[in-house]
Amino acid sequence: MSHETFPTDRPAVVTCGLPYANGDLHVGHLRGYISADVLTRALRTVGQETAYVCGSDMHGTPIAVNAAQEDVTPAEFALGYHEQYRETFPRFNVQFDQYGHTDDETNTALTRSIVETLEEAGHVYEKAIQVGYDPDADQYLPDRYVEGTCPYCGAHARGDECDEGCGRHLEPGEVSDPVSVLTGNPAEYRERDHRFFRVSELQEYLSGFIDRLEGTSNAQNQPREWIEGELRDWCITRDMDWGIDYPGEEAEELVLYVWVDAPMEYISATRQHSETVGTDSFDWEAVWQPSDDERSTPTEPGGGGEVIHVIGRDIIQHHTVFWPAMLHAAGYTEPRAVAATGFITIDGQGLSTSRNRAVWAREYLDAGFDPDLLRFYLTTNGGLQQDVDFSWEKFQARINSELVGTVGNFLYRSLLFAHREYDGTPDVEVSARVTERIEGAMAAFRTGVNDYSVRAIGTAGVELARFGNEYIQSEEPWKLTEEAPDRARQVIRDCVQLAQAVVVLLEPVLPGTCQRIWETIGAEESELAALDLETALAAPAPRFDAPAEPFEPVEDEQVAALSEQLAEQIAAASEQPAVTDATTEQEESAPPEEGLEPIATERVSFEQFGALDLRVGRIETASPIEGADSLLRLEVDIGVETRQIVAGLRELHDAEALAGMRVVVVANLEPAELFGTESDGMVLAAGDDADLLSTHAESPPGTKIR
Ligand code: MF3
Ligand code: ZN
Repeated sequence: MSHETFPTDRPAVVTCGLPYANGDLHVGHLRGYISADVLTRALRTVGQETAYVCGSDMHGTPIAVNAAQEDVTPAEFALGYHEQYRETFPRFNVQFDQYGHTDDETNTALTRSIVETLEEAGHVYEKAIQVGYDPDADQYLPDRYVEGTCPYCGAHARGDECDEGCGRHLEPGEVSDPVSVLTGNPAEYRERDHRFFRVSELQEYLSGFIDRLEGTSNAQNQPREWIEGELRDWCITRDMDWGIDYPGEEAEELVLYVWVDAPMEYISATRQHSETVGTDSFDWEAVWQPSDDERSTPTEPGGGGEVIHVIGRDIIQHHTVFWPAMLHAAGYTEPRAVAATGFITIDGQGLSTSRNRAVWAREYLDAGFDPDLLRFYLTTNGGLQQDVDFSWEKFQARINSELVGTVGNFLYRSLLFAHREYDGTPDVEVSARVTERIEGAMAAFRTGVNDYSVRAIGTAGVELARFGNEYIQSEEPWKLTEEAPDRARQVIRDCVQLAQAVVVLLEPVLPGTCQRIWETIGAEESELAALDLETALAAPAPRFDAPAEPFEPVEDEQVAALSEQLAEQIAAASEQPAVTDATTEQEESAPPEEGLEPIATERVSFEQFGALDLRVGRIETASPIEGADSLLRLEVDIGVETRQIVAGLRELHDAEALAGMRVVVVANLEPAELFGTESDGMVLAAGDDADLLSTHAESPPGTKIR
């Protein structure tokens, strides 16, 4: 069952992952909020009724730990950042319809009532588990209060997440060799009663859900492994003071896990928006609460509105497993789409708040740049899933060539010419060729919206401006005004239409700039953001004033100064030891992403390459390894001998079909042990789908590859 294309006659809600209220905002955060803002504006442009809601994530251990370090209450600490975020987002033209926070009454009441519903419907049970405890600090150690080793991949991990290794969500008690981040002591384990949500029994529903989920491919592919593998129940309580009390258990100091109440804010904020504008204008229940007979089933998405989540790719599991499971079990609308963004890097490395390894929102604003420039850079540089490497030089290069050189240049020269020669729009019809071209750009824009591709949305307008530049350049109307005045009128009439279309198409990415131009050329006095895509083809104002230059180029001196400052900041950050306490944020380790990664900047020598012994191999057998959902044990003939190689192919390939296949083997890789099985070599494969490398002709096993 596939979804209808946008616009639909159901209201949409776009959300963006809630920022933890525990540090200043940087460009890494802004990418998500800006992308979701662009998508919201574009949905409205194609006629989709849409609300954009978000809020601050106030609970959880990161905030409790940081507040304690600053000797303030978690509430005070988090509210300070909440206020800062609320003020900062609009300065980047990020316009939420509602920006709330998870600790307010609406969210507290809603979260508790949904948890009660889950309890009543038999989705929750109590179980005694071992939780970490620090005897010196006399405190339990939930989530980030404890660190240790990931039981799945052996990487160093936080109590709640294998943040440096396999990326799995970890349940309480799962990390091995737990160490308290409060004192550095080895943690003790103590038995406590906790509540568990029976995610395991929703497997069938979740498999159907993930099949119909739209958005980026990483959000659909990654969770399959979890959903189709062993789906475990989810502990939804924590031994902490800070958080939403478990319903009916106020005395027990058991609060809800932050990942229960945080996404609930998506619903709470929608509700608050409805309450502000009136349910006649926007009905939150129509979005989130389908009637009984239109609830989702394993095979059908059910009723309600179009729920679209934009998130970072590190929190895919929460949004594609736990969250839809809760929604479904409590009778709420499932998400239609999850669009997961890549990370922002600097010199290819992840940002870090605690090490000051970042470009801060405030720095950008202090430099005096128009927010639209950053919006353009962050959303059109690469696809949503790709990592974007930030440097002031790259920022300058893209702004100056694309925005100033292409978009700004076209808008300014054509509108100025129209104003000077004709006092506005020449009084002739637009040519068929140009109309067609604009229609093509509108279609590309619509496709971008339906693909949740903010890059495609932005590119539609930029490409139309590029066409406009070529058109005006090849027609040279300035030479025609005397000899061929009719032709000149036609060309300029076409250009004014193109300019209007560019402004309509680029409004989602460049709302401030486009609104300013619209005030010059728009026939209607309304806000550009409120107009639909067809406005691209509407008649422009017959008379208009001289336009202003839409963009100022980014100057070399300013870039040099900013780059130098950033380089110093980064150098200082690298001298600092890695922060391994609970304040370490997830951006530090940008896990490998599914989109295209930038090419490694460091070159290897021929000698280094030659050190790899690559051979043609033939898979003889492929068999599962007990206890390892994703691994296969291969026997591979490499001519001189047969090797046992363990490879992560189980979920991606049919084991039987692998026998006989020719593969590429790294024959001199140091042996490793995986799940108690020795792996002597590696088979090469491309991408997340493990597309196996083979040879085209019949080179026999053992043939050297060079
Ligand atoms: N605060 C979380 C983070 O930064 C995201 C919460 S998103 C929500 O990772 F779904 F819980 F709302
Ligand atoms: Zn791991």
